Amino acid sequence: MASDSSTPVPQKFAPSADFSAQAHVKTVAEYEAMHKRSIEDPEGFWGEIASDCHFFKKWDKVREWNLPDAKWFVGGKTNVAYNCLDYQIEKGRGDHTAILWEGELVDDKGEPTDVRKFTYNDLLRDVCKFANALKKMGVKKGDRVTLYMPMVPELAIAMLACARIGAPHSVIFGGFSAQAIVDRLEDAQSTVIVTADGGYRRGKIVPLKKNVDDACGMTDLVKTVVVYERTGNEITMKDGRDVWWHDAIEGCADTCEAEHCDAEDMLFLLYTSGSTGKPKGILHTTAGYMVFAAYTAKMVFDLKPDDMYWCTADIGWVTGHSYIVYGPLQNGITTIMYEGAPNHPDWERFWAIVQRYKVTKFYTAPTAIRAFMKQGEELPGKYDLSSIKLLGSVGEPINPAAWMWYHEHLGGGTSPIVDTWWQTETGGILITPLPGVTETKPGSATQPFFGVDAAVVERDGTVLPRGSNGLLVIRQPWPGMLRGIYGDRDRFIKTYFSEIEGVYFTGDGARFDEDGYFWITGRVDDVLNVSGHRMGTAEIESALVSHPRVAEAAVVGFPDELTGEAICAFVTLKGDSEASAGLKDELRKHVATQIGAIARPKDLRFTDALPKTRSGKIMRRLLRELATKGRVEGDITTLEDLTTIAAMNTKDEE
Ligand code: WT7
Repeated sequence: MASDSSTPVPQKFAPSADFSAQAHVKTVAEYEAMHKRSIEDPEGFWGEIASDCHFFKKWDKVREWNLPDAKWFVGGKTNVAYNCLDYQIEKGRGDHTAILWEGELVDDKGEPTDVRKFTYNDLLRDVCKFANALKKMGVKKGDRVTLYMPMVPELAIAMLACARIGAPHSVIFGGFSAQAIVDRLEDAQSTVIVTADGGYRRGKIVPLKKNVDDACGMTDLVKTVVVYERTGNEITMKDGRDVWWHDAIEGCADTCEAEHCDAEDMLFLLYTSGSTGKPKGILHTTAGYMVFAAYTAKMVFDLKPDDMYWCTADIGWVTGHSYIVYGPLQNGITTIMYEGAPNHPDWERFWAIVQRYKVTKFYTAPTAIRAFMKQGEELPGKYDLSSIKLLGSVGEPINPAAWMWYHEHLGGGTSPIVDTWWQTETGGILITPLPGVTETKPGSATQPFFGVDAAVVERDGTVLPRGSNGLLVIRQPWPGMLRGIYGDRDRFIKTYFSEIEGVYFTGDGARFDEDGYFWITGRVDDVLNVSGHRMGTAEIESALVSHPRVAEAAVVGFPDELTGEAICAFVTLKGDSEASAGLKDELRKHVATQIGAIARPKDLRFTDALPKTRSGKIMRRLLRELATKGRVEGDITTLEDLTTIAAMNTKDEE
């Protein structure tokens, strides 16, 4: 695929002269000079960038770096919600639309029945009201507030309200199950959860409140549940614990002083999968994240005051945090939020939205592009997509065929495509084209953003020259970098700063090509990327073994045309259990119930034993071969029991 050096790269695509002329950065020389300065003089560079943001008190020092601990804008006091709202209003954007939201439901003509617009003034008022409601419930600075919501404006409002009072939020993706909620609540020691009665997804109601009730049945941590009424489905409200959103804000003032947060106060936690079973609470702080989200959004999407910007991600993932809420709002533009699925009521929905609001900048994931490709190019062809000026891609390597389709059928053959590489941990985009400058190559995330000192290295840390494959590391801290894993300092050091000495290890492999472009080849740890979503194999394995009939399980990824990678589980059953098609379905469903539908194995195979080395380590490479090709042809000399693979090779596909 993209990573294979033998694959001929058809073409390079230079930005059009028109685009470059109006862009924030216009020439390669400008990019190179700015990048050089950002690496040689990070304090000077970022100090200037941060001067565009609002600080109640200016920092004393731009950066402090004692590996693995970075501090940015040390001694500064600021507030992220203030920067997203009040500061924009001060700059004259009060009456400009901040959030344009479209609900999933449509009438019989296919027109959306719920569209809501919030100006910056409106949003400030609603954020203040909810911030006051949170205070009234006893939420104080530093308290973690869990948000388990559908894609409604109130989710952004709740995030900003938390930021306003200095209470870190922990957003849990609405596709996660009750057990996943409990794990995250307990890890964060969060006693307040904001949810909704339900959310719409493909015309059906996702029972969010019911999932929260189930979660509350497994932990007695939760003292308050705030319920936003979205779907009107029947739910039960528990006296003394549950309160409707509309009742909670009743009588609350519509102004609320923004907390003067320290630059390094926690802004949010966001849980993500790692290579062990327990999800990690990635910890982001205030000023560095804020400056980085604002500046990357501005430069990478080349934001201008009249942009109609649409990022199709869910706010439950970091993309939604940085590039639906915090980045765009700090640029005073309109950020579009869509509640539902790309194929409801049909596969034309996205293009209808682009046409309806004259979307100028469109940011989505390769897996979505591949799904659209399958539906045929006639569908986008039916709509006027001429408003599009720039396209973005995120979440996984974009295969050249999808890149070309995106370029032709959405970009009209001219819009620059920014393939943005980053992670929950990085807070914002680290490797990306600059749209007015970079000659793009389909499949490559191209070059490091300002302040990003990326390199490809060997396991022992040796930096590799152009033309090599290796491990992707970042050698200098950047403002949006994670500050820790909540409550687990050892894991923070072990995961990111000890595999390769002296640098931040991304967990990704990459090729650094002859032109100095980066081609991300994917995870090198036991983490899968399914539809751009991170899943730990260990998490899925522990969900499987929690089933009473499962003795042992091993999960691997295999290539999938649509989702990039798909999940294959190998399962051995307890002595008295019979393998059957029914049990197979039950186990796949069990994983979905334990974690969420995104973790459901596409393929599940029963086996009498798992292939292990003499020291008892599961040989995942063999399982990957089995999952991909159906048989193992590679070297099996270290295998403990050769009969295992022999048996698996001859086994019929179930
Ligand atoms: C992992 C991070 C960043 C927001 C969404 C995912 C993969 C992400 C790209 C890209 C190739 C990419 C990496 C990374 N990834 N963007 N443009 N090209 N791979 O965030 O869940 O933290 O996952 O997604 O493997 O490590 P995440």
